[in-house]
Amino acid sequence: MPDDATLILEGVERKFPTLVGSEGEKAIDIAALRGSTGYITLDPGFVNTGSCESKITFIDGEKGILRYRGIPLDQLADNSSFLETAMLVLNGSLPSSGELDAFTSRVTESALIPEEMRAMLDHFPRNAHPMCVLGALTNALAAFYPHVSATSSAEEIDLAAARLIATVSTIATFTYKRSIGEAVVYPDASLSYSENFLNMMFSSPVSSYERDPDIVRALEMLLIMHVDHEQNCSASSVRLVGSSHANLYAAITAGIAALWGPLHGGANQAVMDMLGDIHRSGKSPSTFIEMAKDKSNSFRLSGFGHRVYKNYDPRARIIKSVCTKVLQKQAGKDPLLDIAVNLEAEVLKDEYFIKRKLYPNVDFYSGLLYKAMGIPTDMFTVLFAIGRMPGWIAQWKEMVSNPANKIGRPRQVYTGNNETAYTPIKKR
Ligand code: CMC
Repeated sequence: MPDDATLILEGVERKFPTLVGSEGEKAIDIAALRGSTGYITLDPGFVNTGSCESKITFIDGEKGILRYRGIPLDQLADNSSFLETAMLVLNGSLPSSGELDAFTSRVTESALIPEEMRAMLDHFPRNAHPMCVLGALTNALAAFYPHVSATSSAEEIDLAAARLIATVSTIATFTYKRSIGEAVVYPDASLSYSENFLNMMFSSPVSSYERDPDIVRALEMLLIMHVDHEQNCSASSVRLVGSSHANLYAAITAGIAALWGPLHGGANQAVMDMLGDIHRSGKSPSTFIEMAKDKSNSFRLSGFGHRVYKNYDPRARIIKSVCTKVLQKQAGKDPLLDIAVNLEAEVLKDEYFIKRKLYPNVDFYSGLLYKAMGIPTDMFTVLFAIGRMPGWIAQWKEMVSNPANKIGRPRQVYTGNNETAYTPIKKR
């Protein structure tokens, strides 16, 4: 255990305990800082701030390592299923086959949403962004199902977890069907999670969906890639909202809202827009690289850079390899893949990106794979949300089960007016 940290402030020396995580991450526990010194820390974007201790996901951003509950991501991508990985993340260890069967049945049985919820969809504009609809209907689950919060029993929480994992897929596909003016396809209990999603997306009363095992496996892999990523913007939003003891569905809705942003899960859609722009413009990727380097231009290369990874994002490496295989099999290969590969090659040689350690992130190749599956661009972030659902719930569960948990309430350094007398409107 390292020594306490010593802080000398206004000539007075104080000690603060340090702690080291199981993978050697070091932290200074400053919980007593304000009480003992009157000072707070200021850390915009929480770049140096740990909000919790967690046993769920380990990332070493310098080395490009990502593990769920200790298991490296590539081993899960090669061997596991989405629902098995979900159980791992939710419960802390891999399930037995009996446990996995029971959880799978529970998810399958929970996939139907109430007809009133389906009817709610009819009142959204057809062209509504599916992330907006997903957020609204996830929040609405609280109106249809028992309240689940910090004080609920383990059984109630497990049931709600299975329901969220199941219904996010149903809501997503119903939203898509409505956007194209087709009847919804109800969940089919005989299909696996990913098969069921693809079937609800692409089958119709007049044509059945031909399932391609490579596409089904690619979707499982993509979902596994997204299951959790420790204290990112959306997981932190789930924890923050949940810390007020708001119900689980409300907390997850906050995660969906955070994920939608183009700096977070919305980047997979932004990447495809950018690759499309490069294609349509007929310009070389270097023109766009120069634009991204120009500080007078707000343009950034979507799909590059990460707050934590200062190395190749391990998720991007796995997705790139599956994406290349799937696209090679398809007739009339997507020209955007070549553009992406060339753009990446140029970026990795460029001094600007090398100096700032900006590498492709999870969103750079995932959109190409979704597109190869026939999933429309504005559904990409929804797919991210489907994959991330177990992680959000696991983060929430971990937080509410910790008796030391407090409501999240950051401080600020106020820089506004000093006391100012009210001026009546006629005198202004
Ligand atoms: N293109 C050009 N320059 C970039 C990029 C980029 N994609 N990303 C970062 N930079 C530059 C940035 O301008 C800054 O330069 P300087 O030091 O000269 O001011 C430096 O690199 C550090 O960037 P930052 O914005 O301080 O880093 P951050 O940790 O606050 O932001 C990020 C991380 C992911 C928001 C950012 O890299 C970014 O905007 N990337 C593009 C959007 C994207 O792909 N998002 C998906 C993230 S991964 C999935 C997820 O979390 O949802």
